[in-house]
Amino acid sequence: MTQYFFPKGFRWGASTSAYQIEGAWNEDGKGESIWDRFTHLPGNILDGSSGDIACDHYHRYQDDIHLMKELHLDVYSFTISWTRIIPEGRGRVNQKGLDFYRRLTDSLLEAGITPFSTLYHWDLPQTLQDEGGWQVRSTVDAFVEYADVVSRALADRVKHWATLNEPWCASFLSYAIGEQAPGMRDMKAAVKASHHLLLAHGLSVPVIRSNSPQCEAGIILNFSPSEPASLSNADYQAARKYDGYFNRWFLDPLFGRLYPADKTAEYSEAGYLPQDLIKPGDMEKIAAPIDFLGVNYYNRSVHRAEIPEDQNLPQTNFVAPESEWTDMGWEVFPQALYRLLCRLYFEYQIPKLYINENGAAYSDSPDKSGSVKDVRRIQFLRDHLIQVHRAIQAGVPLAGYLTWSFMDNFEWANGYTKRFGLVWVDYETQKRIFKDSAFWYRKVILDNGFTT
Ligand code: NOJ
Repeated sequence: MTQYFFPKGFRWGASTSAYQIEGAWNEDGKGESIWDRFTHLPGNILDGSSGDIACDHYHRYQDDIHLMKELHLDVYSFTISWTRIIPEGRGRVNQKGLDFYRRLTDSLLEAGITPFSTLYHWDLPQTLQDEGGWQVRSTVDAFVEYADVVSRALADRVKHWATLNEPWCASFLSYAIGEQAPGMRDMKAAVKASHHLLLAHGLSVPVIRSNSPQCEAGIILNFSPSEPASLSNADYQAARKYDGYFNRWFLDPLFGRLYPADKTAEYSEAGYLPQDLIKPGDMEKIAAPIDFLGVNYYNRSVHRAEIPEDQNLPQTNFVAPESEWTDMGWEVFPQALYRLLCRLYFEYQIPKLYINENGAAYSDSPDKSGSVKDVRRIQFLRDHLIQVHRAIQAGVPLAGYLTWSFMDNFEWANGYTKRFGLVWVDYETQKRIFKDSAFWYRKVILDNGFTT
């Protein structure tokens, strides 16, 4: 029998995001976001759905907080919808939007749950997109204005602020790969977007700090630990190239190392990095000291320089045929989380880390007795927590673990076809049911660990 107990004061939580759960897409003065626009255009979402209603959390937040309390969640990470607060992206503030987040955070605090707030989880005001979105520098100023309004209004309630969630998704996935709003396929646009997102982060950190002096301020990045399929030089180079594109492009500038030289050379040569994009002083601003880094981890990526044409499969499918895969087609590979956490701390000396998202999509639904026996999710969480525990033993200053997600929700381009929640949601009736993983996680929280 092995025991995995966590340090005293370790934070346990779950995460969601505004567009994925709130619904009420055009209520109480909310403006249109790029996700409202994107989902309303046919062909963008696998099941043709949208977040118009989602989990109807905007109206049901009190019941949801009640469920969180039953789970003994210590922390709840939610994100704020920019267009509820500033419907046109800049200028006029919508009081009803601020009131919603005031009520939400008040209810969380009353329930003894610490609110972790993120300002940007991809739902840019459409009016700003019409001016070029993250491709243009003026969006940076609009974001800082928004960060100022929100952090001022909620400073007395919220002591943990993340500026952005997963800027890789908000730039490359959205502007180059086209899978997410605004659905563009232009690498130059994506590089510009990434720089402006990082700058928006760096410029808003001091603003948040001055509004909310006792708070901790940081950013959430998603990582894809990149491994070579073999130890050949060619595969190693392929993995390093991807690591630069996905991980180092964001990490390095945030921690004062400028953009990685291999990538700036590559992007300049390809014409993706306009000469006037990075203005004097930008890199210092991006490297504004932060109190924590939020880490989102789902899977590793394995790289091979040459992919045989007849094997058009995700690399890991032939590298690790014995692996298991979630409904997203993502390999379950917990060891990479341990290595990632060690790398982040040992290489970048980050003072404090949280896992802001880690979880899995599995389709288990209520059986005849009404219970959801999501055994694979319990295994997934347990195996990842074992690696988290290992990292803490190795000296990584990891302050908390939050799972994605508190409840099933709108999974972006996959619509409602993928279920990540601890809580099962019936989208027809909005009924919520605790999955077995929720009961398991509640016990982990109460015991501050588990035994295997
Ligand atoms: C990361 C994102 O932040 C979240 O919005 C998404 O639902 C999960 N990963 C799962 O894909």
